Amino acid sequence: MTFVSLSRTRRSHPRAVILGTGSELPAQVVTNAALEKLVDTSDEWITTRTGIKERRILEEGKGNADMAYRASVRALKDAGLEAKDVEAIIMGTVTPDYPFPSSACVLEDMLGVRKAFSFDVNAACCGFLNALAIADSFIRTGRIRTALVVGSDALSRLLNWKDRGTCILFGDGAGAVVLGASHDGAHGILSTRLRTDGSYVKTLYVPAGGSLKPASLESVKRNEHTIAMNGKEVFKVAVRSMEEISREALDEAEVKVDEVSLVIPHQANLRIITALAGRLKVPMTKVMVNVDRYGNTSAASVPVALDEARREGRIRPGDIVLLNAFGAGFAWGAAVIRF
Ligand code: COA
Repeated sequence: MTFVSLSRTRRSHPRAVILGTGSELPAQVVTNAALEKLVDTSDEWITTRTGIKERRILEEGKGNADMAYRASVRALKDAGLEAKDVEAIIMGTVTPDYPFPSSACVLEDMLGVRKAFSFDVNAACCGFLNALAIADSFIRTGRIRTALVVGSDALSRLLNWKDRGTCILFGDGAGAVVLGASHDGAHGILSTRLRTDGSYVKTLYVPAGGSLKPASLESVKRNEHTIAMNGKEVFKVAVRSMEEISREALDEAEVKVDEVSLVIPHQANLRIITALAGRLKVPMTKVMVNVDRYGNTSAASVPVALDEARREGRIRPGDIVLLNAFGAGFAWGAAVIRF
């Protein structure tokens, strides 16, 4: 008796489905040639070490939520929904407009959403996947039926433009996904997996500006409000971790790697992406790459690439797509979605 009622409940659980996607990249393009004028680097070095040719930089006077707003309006239009239909806004970001309140609340106001709950998630470059997993859980449990999930970052605001080891890597952008609830059982988010390892906090971080070391004249002089990173260590752990978590997400979804139509990895570095594809034994023809045009846009990277892949016709109904990301924390994650 108990077994029957439990299994009924389980079957009636909805699944989160992607109803629409949108993205926004700032108009200002910064090429590798432009960076050659700022630091001792070359287009050749940046291209061969990272695959990046150019990135976009958010204009002065604009904040993260401005990009998130544009991406969200496009995603809502694509979904055929209005802002008032949104029940939750969850935004992955480490560059909110203000220390508080959240950029999700700023976005909520811009969109005119009034009956939702909204919050930011800080998981750096993995922020979108964390936000997606949280929204998926709310939808699966029946708590909400629609969510706007955003990854938006303006890492240009955290860069030391004299540090050639970091300033060449990052760019700004936003991506948004509208999730709905479906009972058809076939489509939607099949699995999500998240992980962190806090022993790597200082391998990739911004040393000052938080409660431990608030802003001071000294912290500004010492450039402690900009990204400090051990790139080699990040590289090594990123490839291994994204492979592992992708395999876990595929296992949980009961999907074989050959059944995946498209992998949309975090766009940090072309060498990381190709190494990951090699370890997963996925041909590069099945891997979405736009790091050459945008650099590493942090939490925006996966949803921007997802939106581009859909608009380029690279995702058809029934396709299985694997998302994965890795970032500061370290925090990493993966999701498997059937469209
Ligand atoms: N232009 C020219 N030379 C540069 C340079 C630049 N922009 N940045 C570093 N170099 C130099 C270094 O100073 C070093 O010189 P040296 O041998 O005289 O000391 C040399 O190039 C090699 O540096 P190294 O750091 O060993 O290069 P690398 O092959 O590891 O590439 C990264 C550096 C940053 C591109 C690479 O480690 C990386 O992509 N890591 C991951 C970073 C990342 O993705 N972070 C975000 C994760 S979400």
